[in-house]
Amino acid sequence: MQDNQEKAAASPVSSASGAPKKVFIKAYGCQMNVYDAARMADVMAPEGYGETAEMADADLVILNTCHIREKAAEKVYSELGRVRELKQARAAGGRPVEVVVAGCVAQAEGAEILRRAPAVDLVVGPQSYHRLPELVRRARAERLVDTDFPVEDKFDHLPRPSPERTRARGVSAFVTVQEGCDKFCSFCVVPYTRGAEVSRPVAKIIADARALADAGVREVTLIGQNVNAYHGLDEQGRPAALADLFEAVARIDGIARIRYSTSHPRDMDDALIAAHRDLPALAPYLHLPVQSGSDRILAAMNRKHGADDYRRIVERARAARPDIALSSDFIVGFPGETDADFEDTMRLARDVNFASAFFFKYSPRPGTPAASLTDQVPEEAKTERLAALQALLDEQRFAFNEATIGKTADVLFERPGRHPGQIVGKTPWLQTVQVDAPASLIGEIMPVLITGRGTNSLFGALPDRAVAAA
Ligand code: SAH
Ligand code: SF4
Ligand code: F3S
Repeated sequence: MQDNQEKAAASPVSSASGAPKKVFIKAYGCQMNVYDAARMADVMAPEGYGETAEMADADLVILNTCHIREKAAEKVYSELGRVRELKQARAAGGRPVEVVVAGCVAQAEGAEILRRAPAVDLVVGPQSYHRLPELVRRARAERLVDTDFPVEDKFDHLPRPSPERTRARGVSAFVTVQEGCDKFCSFCVVPYTRGAEVSRPVAKIIADARALADAGVREVTLIGQNVNAYHGLDEQGRPAALADLFEAVARIDGIARIRYSTSHPRDMDDALIAAHRDLPALAPYLHLPVQSGSDRILAAMNRKHGADDYRRIVERARAARPDIALSSDFIVGFPGETDADFEDTMRLARDVNFASAFFFKYSPRPGTPAASLTDQVPEEAKTERLAALQALLDEQRFAFNEATIGKTADVLFERPGRHPGQIVGKTPWLQTVQVDAPASLIGEIMPVLITGRGTNSLFGALPDRAVAAA
């Protein structure tokens, strides 16, 4: 996603060597961090910073961090070790590097980061990054932490990227529609790092989506920590639901596909299910984290629904859209999880049959209620359960992919492939397909015959007619 070709903006600032300044941004964690990283680049562009994909070339290094599991948070400190070496080498050469830690570790740990990592100049939380230019300037005089939840809306202060810049990022784009979380699952840091749930107004989201479409974007993924709890105001000042938002986005010329992520089972209302039946632009794909198949563990997790509630949602979704692909997140080894609880999770996975899934070992997070529970599960049991669940879910994913072989699917072509003459796109079910086809088809949706599969992607061929026309 880095945009190497980017020319520095109108009045570029120069580094000590006289070359235009460059920013390197690395995003960890969820899709929202990827989206925020792009917006950080947008906010630094008018300051004269071009983007670079090489940390060694950068005058400004921003790590947009994730705090969800211990491993994610620790990654940041090992990266900061490398950044420190770069900073020292560059200081010796007379070209300084400024270092920013942004994102959820920044929010959770604040000044602790300055203490642990001497290379860091600025710590900035997810709700303050629209102030980056000013904060970077101030941090030159004194190391700084800004983890406020400001009253102003950061989105109102973020510059819109140029159409060229948008298009260079690809034909599929994220739009944040909702941020934060009020659910307080007992294992999760997100309500603390991202704050309370806030939904953006419909008109602002539509304006963003329209600008993306005008730049050549064909697919938008509406993102939020709890995207189906969306309740932003419409132009009449009434709360709109996510399904209303889909309809408005689907009306925008150029937008051919809509996706959304991530949903909570408690907010899967009838209108959202009906949208899967009625709205052709809405991709037949539902990422709906369940975490566990045991009612006892779900209650301890504060998920506020049972395993059968989840099964019923899946039934409703499949009744509305029979080809819908189901995806989920699972946690194994939550405190108190017994073999029997884990067996319930395996049973739920077998009952639902997922097209894809993410699975994690429970990681105790500071400040969350589950971290202080006394019946923590031993590491070996977590490892065993994860392996068993992974084997089952991998098998289901392979079977799902296998079942598309021989069928024709509409593929949105997104980028050149690894081999010359190849391009890569996605089916409606979010499968990656590699096809021998001209690069001129990038941005188009075309029927593709699925001919085979590798471990992580499918192979496909254009019908002869389409090749002749291209
Ligand atoms: N907002 C999303 C999820 C955000 S975090 C949602 O509610 O679905 C993404 C996933 O990370 C979660 O679904 C969960 O499976 C996992 N996760 C969150 N906290 C975790 C923890 N403490 N240990 C292990 N996995 C965790
Ligand atoms: Fe975390 Fe639960 Fe909120 Fe998802 S719904 S972000 S898992 S607290
Ligand atoms: Fe990680 Fe924060 Fe996203 S903790 S998963 S980057 S909301």
